[in-house]
Amino acid sequence: MSIATVILAAGKGTRMNSEIPKVLHPIAGAPMLVHALQAARSLEPERMVVVAGHGADAVTQAVHGYDEDVQVVVQDEQLGTGHAVQQARAALEGFDGTVIVLYGDTPFVRPETLQAMIQARSTQDVVVLGFEAADPGRYGRLKMSGDVLDAIVEFKDATEAERAISLCNSGVVACDAALLFSLLDAVTNDNAAGEYYLPDIVGLARARGLSAGVVTCPEAETLGVNSRAELAAADALFQQTARAAAMEDGVTLLDPASIYFSYDTFIGRDTVIEPHVFFGPEVTIESGARIRAFSHLEGCHVARGGVIGPYARLRPGAELSEDVRVGNFVEIKNATIDVGAKVNHLSYIGDAFVGAGANIGAGTITCNYDGVLKHHTHIGARAFIGSNTMLVAPVSVGSEAMTASGSVITSDVEDGALAIARAHQVDKPGMARKLMQMLRAKKAKQTRGN
Ligand code: UD1
Ligand code: CA
Repeated sequence: MSIATVILAAGKGTRMNSEIPKVLHPIAGAPMLVHALQAARSLEPERMVVVAGHGADAVTQAVHGYDEDVQVVVQDEQLGTGHAVQQARAALEGFDGTVIVLYGDTPFVRPETLQAMIQARSTQDVVVLGFEAADPGRYGRLKMSGDVLDAIVEFKDATEAERAISLCNSGVVACDAALLFSLLDAVTNDNAAGEYYLPDIVGLARARGLSAGVVTCPEAETLGVNSRAELAAADALFQQTARAAAMEDGVTLLDPASIYFSYDTFIGRDTVIEPHVFFGPEVTIESGARIRAFSHLEGCHVARGGVIGPYARLRPGAELSEDVRVGNFVEIKNATIDVGAKVNHLSYIGDAFVGAGANIGAGTITCNYDGVLKHHTHIGARAFIGSNTMLVAPVSVGSEAMTASGSVITSDVEDGALAIARAHQVDKPGMARKLMQMLRAKKAKQTRGN
């Protein structure tokens, strides 16, 4: 069966109290709309459409950042969910198959659930995703006769008896494309909200003698985000799921509740993550690594056996080969650290290559930025960089070369050479004691003066 998806994302999200369109607020490092796009993508649809409205430019940019091929249509006035789907009509011109409508602010619908809806579509003309609500609140209610869905009634329009129904509408609908638009043509705004309701297609289909049914899912999947508090709750739910999945995949988490994952974090088997670790987007960690407490990682790759932290920061472009050690208060950005190299204490390595087995002493800085341009530092294999070396890029230190601690290295060091670039030490015998006596005498004089 050919599939097309339509994601509704035109709403303002007033309760977010934000300049940013609601669907662009992130959950686990990705806009909630991207989570919905990922769910839609899992169905391998022939076409994907997003209906934007409030903040349409920003929404379009985010959608095309995800995938240029997703069509964005604009609903200028938000006249209801039915009206929103109508805006996708031209984008779906010539499409023959099932349309699945999703909401951009309902990010957790699982691919398996959508598959079950497609399955149900083979015997039902209209399929609605429903859930048993612990607190049905203002959700639309599903009116059933046995297994048959007769109609969806919005809370505002519902009678007391209908409000007592706990089976609720998630908003997700699957329907044949031609039928969907034919039913939408018959939807009116003659209701309590004065809106064109998408759910009205169910009653209209039944009136035409067509079939409608329900697929149900756990309430957590239909969780919608309308406020900052709900955004936090959605993120918390994502984290809980991601932690469970990581442990299932053979990752040890010490104090799982303190570890923050992004939507795309990948961690290999037998890796151990210590407490209070933050994973930003685009992090992959291979097997058997250890990420020690209070480390912050984003856009980086740690190969097998790496030990990172505690208190390390890996920024975008940090590419760490097998068995690398990165210790406390070390920042690495856009740099490759080759096999077995060590950067153990208080260093900044940016725009650099560090060769295999090199040892970077405490307090080493790659001075990569001259205020306008960024420059590269190259450190050869098994080089030994003395503590507190400033490497003023562009510069290279050869393999098996050394720099004396405290050096400011401004020109290239050849293989195997020792570079010393610091002032000579001058010793003055007895001078320290003499100096102290002078200073104490001065202080005593001042005290008498007061
Ligand atoms: C809707 C359903 C309700 C269901 C609930 C589940 C209708 C009429 N009601 O109610 O049965 O229980 O979702 O969460 O559909 N949108 C547009 N354009 C519009 C209106 C809405 O794009 O003109 C988008 C919103 O941005 C949002 C989604 O559609 O992503 C749902 O709209 P919303 O107004 O939140 O519907 P509810 O009142 O929650
Ligand atoms: Ca809503």
